[in-house]
Amino acid sequence: MKTIGIIGAGKIGKAFAAHVAKAGYPTIISNSRGPASLTETVEEIGHGIKAGTTAEAASADIIFLSVNWNKVEEALAGISNWENKIVIDATNAILPGFVPADLSGKVSSEIIASLVPGAQVVKAFNTLLAAVLASDPRDEGGNRILFYSGNNAEAKKAVQEIINKIGFAAIDLGKLDEGGRLQQFPGGPLAAQNLIKIK
Ligand SMILES: NC(=O)c1ccc[n+]([C@@H]2O[C@H](COP(=O)([O-])OP(=O)(O)OC[C@H]3O[C@@H](n4cnc5c(N)ncnc54)[C@H](OP(=O)(O)O)[C@@H]3O)[C@@H](O)[C@H]2O)c1
Repeated sequence: MKTIGIIGAGKIGKAFAAHVAKAGYPTIISNSRGPASLTETVEEIGHGIKAGTTAEAASADIIFLSVNWNKVEEALAGISNWENKIVIDATNAILPGFVPADLSGKVSSEIIASLVPGAQVVKAFNTLLAAVLASDPRDEGGNRILFYSGNNAEAKKAVQEIINKIGFAAIDLGKLDEGGRLQQFPGGPLAAQNLIKIK
């Protein structure tokens, strides 16, 4: 089973952490203030999740990025070994005050990819509100849909496996410049869409 490191232990990081820890993934969660500040969080989540530094989280096979857009560079600074890593980008390019960041026409995940050279970035887990992501994905007789996109088939398969294993229905949107744009908030038509796939 792949190991998972989470950078950003706020609403989205904790929602994701609870699902993957429950599914049995060895998981490390981190924030800006160090593992001691996450004692309560790991107690609440349980299932063997551990708190660590961002460097420890980044040593996992799959790194889940869930910090606010204005903190991304700071959170990734000091982590240099991105080779063979998969980065799940759950961020949205929103600045404090809910101001959209100026991306100069780029897809936000391509900007993230430029900050993690050597890693394969898969955009996912950014379209649901945190409370919806945290809730039971088995709903209304089906499974809540999570979209994902990325440029590397193997990395996407690894993320698809996690999405399905934790009970969501994974839908592949293609590459970052296509799917990422559909998922992107603000502007993407799939942002905040809470959809259920009925079997
Ligand atoms: N909230 C939603 O409904 C939602 C939905 C979809 C996507 N998103 C996106 O998901 C991301 C996270 O949102 P959120 O609502 O979870 O934010 P949040 O509750 O404010 O949590 C942000 C987390 O990032 C951590 N952080 C900040 N600077 C860091 C650093 N330098 N190194 C490591 N960790 C750092 C914070 O740690 P400290 O507490 O130690 O500072 C905190 O744990 C954002 O990009 C947001 O746009 C949010």
